[in-house]
Amino acid sequence: MKAGSQIVLRNLLRENASPFDLRGDARTGLSSTPKTLPSKYFYDARGSHLFEMITRLPEYYLTRSETEILEREAGRFVEATRPRALVEFGSGAARKTRLLLDAMLERGLLEGYGPVDVSADASRHAADALILIYPDLRVEGVIGDFEHPRDLPFAGRPRLMAFLGSTIGNLDALQATKFLRSIRAEMTDADRFLIGFDLVKDASILERAYDDEAGVTAQFNLNMLRVLNRELGASFDLEAFRHRAVWNPRDSRIEMHLESLREQRVQISELGLEVHLASGETIRTEMSHKYTRESVGALLDTAGFRLDSWETDQAGYFALVLARRSD
Ligand code: AVJ
Repeated sequence: MKAGSQIVLRNLLRENASPFDLRGDARTGLSSTPKTLPSKYFYDARGSHLFEMITRLPEYYLTRSETEILEREAGRFVEATRPRALVEFGSGAARKTRLLLDAMLERGLLEGYGPVDVSADASRHAADALILIYPDLRVEGVIGDFEHPRDLPFAGRPRLMAFLGSTIGNLDALQATKFLRSIRAEMTDADRFLIGFDLVKDASILERAYDDEAGVTAQFNLNMLRVLNRELGASFDLEAFRHRAVWNPRDSRIEMHLESLREQRVQISELGLEVHLASGETIRTEMSHKYTRESVGALLDTAGFRLDSWETDQAGYFALVLARRSD
């Protein structure tokens, strides 16, 4: 295949509204009670790098647990689907994506990879790296908000859709249901959906995964304030905040907060906004929902999916779920 035709990235962001509205989101979040900021703004270059480091931390088991399942089960997921293409929400060129692509290649099934990502850069980098490893791979990426999927690539061929990393945990129950329904609407009976869920476990294990000894997650959390300082001319003093990770059992989620260490006023010059924080008041920056087999079953059920298989790592920390449309 000629270079140039091997990678096609379609940009749907021009027609869609961009999911990134830092000005609007910061104004809304910092004016509400309790104060919040959306976790999607963690991922500038520095934040993305810090997240990479998080995935290698001893306390952050999620990536290792999911990889362990894929090492063991990728072949079976592929056998159960017989897919010609992998459509991945959030692009990746790393080990987890390659385990699935390898399982497809070994069985003579692999034709295409379809990353769906808001970041054109991330998709391009993933595509460039993957065609070196899989010279005959056709990459058809969609640059867009994967919460509003449409025109997904490789339609008409059996596809394995994948939403890995427990990214679904960032959505609350209503958002997760809507997301799954919108994917379902794009799926045929031949497609299968592989979803990674982090599971409810001992609170101390969960809290340590989000508050590591080396302080990398603290830096990741505080990076949100750097983003606001840079992008909105805000005056956050990073020394005046502390990273907190707390398990919220009622809502079955880890919450990350930035706690104000003193009473303070912060100017957000580009918004003409002054934010008052009491001593001990927090800004909630992330929610990471944790599931059980029962809550996954209920979610799939309301979203119109049937569970085909449930696989966990040896420790039972993380689950990969293969699901199909139910009719
Ligand atoms: C990328 C959303 C899955 O919730 O575990 C890691 C992000 N935040 N450490 C997660 C994250 C703090 C991560 N997700």
